[in-house]
Amino acid sequence: MDKQALFTEKINSSYSPQGAFIYLGAGILDGQIIAPAEINLPLRMMNRHGLIAGATGTGKTRTLQLIAEQLSDAGVPVFMLDVKGDLSGLNQPGTSNPKLEERAQQLGKTFTPNGFPVELYSLSGKTGAQMRATVIEFGPVLLSKILDLNETQTGVMAVIFKYADDNKLPLIDLNDLKKTVSYLSEGPGAAEIKDSYGSISSATAGTILRKIVAIEQQGLGQIFGETSFDIQDLFDRVDGKGLISLLNISDVQSQTVLYSTFLLSLLVELFNTMPEVGDLDKPKLVFFIDEAHLLFKDSPKAFLEQIETIIKLIRSKGIGIFFCTQAPTDIPPSVLAQLGNRVQHALRAFTPNDAEALRKTVSTYPKSEFYEIDKVLTSLGTGQALITVLNEKGIPTEVAATHLTPPRALMGPLADADCQKLMQGSSLYTKYQQTIDPSSAYDILTQRINEKLEADTALKQQQEEAKAAARQAKVSRNEKSVLEEVINAPITRQIGREIVRGLFGMLTGKKSRSRSLF
Ligand SMILES: Nc1ncnc2c1ncn2[C@@H]1O[C@H](COP(=O)(O)OP(=O)(O)OP(=O)(O)O)[C@@H](O)[C@H]1O
Ligand SMILES: [Mg+2]
Repeated sequence: MDKQALFTEKINSSYSPQGAFIYLGAGILDGQIIAPAEINLPLRMMNRHGLIAGATGTGKTRTLQLIAEQLSDAGVPVFMLDVKGDLSGLNQPGTSNPKLEERAQQLGKTFTPNGFPVELYSLSGKTGAQMRATVIEFGPVLLSKILDLNETQTGVMAVIFKYADDNKLPLIDLNDLKKTVSYLSEGPGAAEIKDSYGSISSATAGTILRKIVAIEQQGLGQIFGETSFDIQDLFDRVDGKGLISLLNISDVQSQTVLYSTFLLSLLVELFNTMPEVGDLDKPKLVFFIDEAHLLFKDSPKAFLEQIETIIKLIRSKGIGIFFCTQAPTDIPPSVLAQLGNRVQHALRAFTPNDAEALRKTVSTYPKSEFYEIDKVLTSLGTGQALITVLNEKGIPTEVAATHLTPPRALMGPLADADCQKLMQGSSLYTKYQQTIDPSSAYDILTQRINEKLEADTALKQQQEEAKAAARQAKVSRNEKSVLEEVINAPITRQIGREIVRGLFGMLTGKKSRSRSLF
């Protein structure tokens, strides 16, 4: 058997799932595209997560797109982080051009343009339906990450959440959080928590409050509150096709911590609310996180641990996560170890750092009788990748340099007018445009503070009245004794009843007058 035939046989025995799959492309051997050697990704294994890596411009985002398209076709909903705002084109059929047709032809296929159901979301509310989460939904760890709090301050944040939970104080928006922080640091709550939770220093409270205000000043306060995002909306289907939900973050791109944390809060919620389902024939939902290095950059330990745990456990809920980034080394090793499906686009080896990343990447690939992995990785063309996935038995497939199929929808953003049309026609856009201000921690604490204030004032008044009464009694006693003297004086007895009545008349008048009398 010649090398090509052997290659085709090996690839086909490795990449021919029994169940539904995603067609990625055809194998490349010695620079030649071998169309019959088909590289497929079993839908059954999509919950084993994946990595799409490669140097800039090598085709990562389009790989993400072509996988999302086929998932949608298979009725699997998809959530994608649209970092550059260039995925909205998924909604429209692509425009055929000689390059795309040639690519399809090389694979023995024809290019068939197609559009997919898309829902646009944004954190600013401008480029898609407003995605929000309540402060409670964020939780203390993620919120501390957004606010860039140190460990002590994060601990205080945890106390604040615990107190709010124990006392049924809904933390909905940033006003609720600010009110609770002040209430517990210097308000009536300070004494209340001292023994059971520990006290919150005014310096820590001050820092937390300042950081919350900074977020508000950047105009990002609106992502906290109601109507908060209902994750069930991610599971919609349109005419049997899975909905592709795009979170466009192009207008908050510099706020890396904010959107990566928001994303993680969605994962946490999915993890907390979805039932255990074990391994399914196809996933319930697949998450794609483009530019994933931003998620891990400068992340505190607690945050990384949370991501690791979620990734490990969320697959039993039928949810797959695909990370897309330049080098596998951008992803913490403990996370990387859990990504079963690998699509590695070309890597460059310009700098010593690049060379090190290349060496590390090579070491994570199984041996291949067809390739020298390092040479292949540095010579792949655009829209080509070195692939190994998990077969239906969970065993890694033969490593295959792959010429990827072209996406069928438009590669790039929709025209502005089409984006507007898509948003205006969306019932979810209308739903999330509404802001609701339910009774929450702010109102409850304001009421509590007011009640305390009223109670304090009432108490003070009572005390003052009591003091005054005591003084009055003393005065009366003095008055009486003076009066008795006056009345009993021989001369008064002679003046008669009218004067005495007059004197008493003055004494039973207003307090101030009785006071001024003496
Ligand atoms: N599968 C594909 N089919 C057809 N064209 C492709 C494919 N993959 C990549 N291309 C072409 O390569 C270009 C760059 O691809 P893409 O934007 O996906 O790169 P990237 O790795 O995401 O880059 P960056 O790191 O800058 O985000 C695309 O605009 C497209 O023209
Ligand atoms: Mg990209």
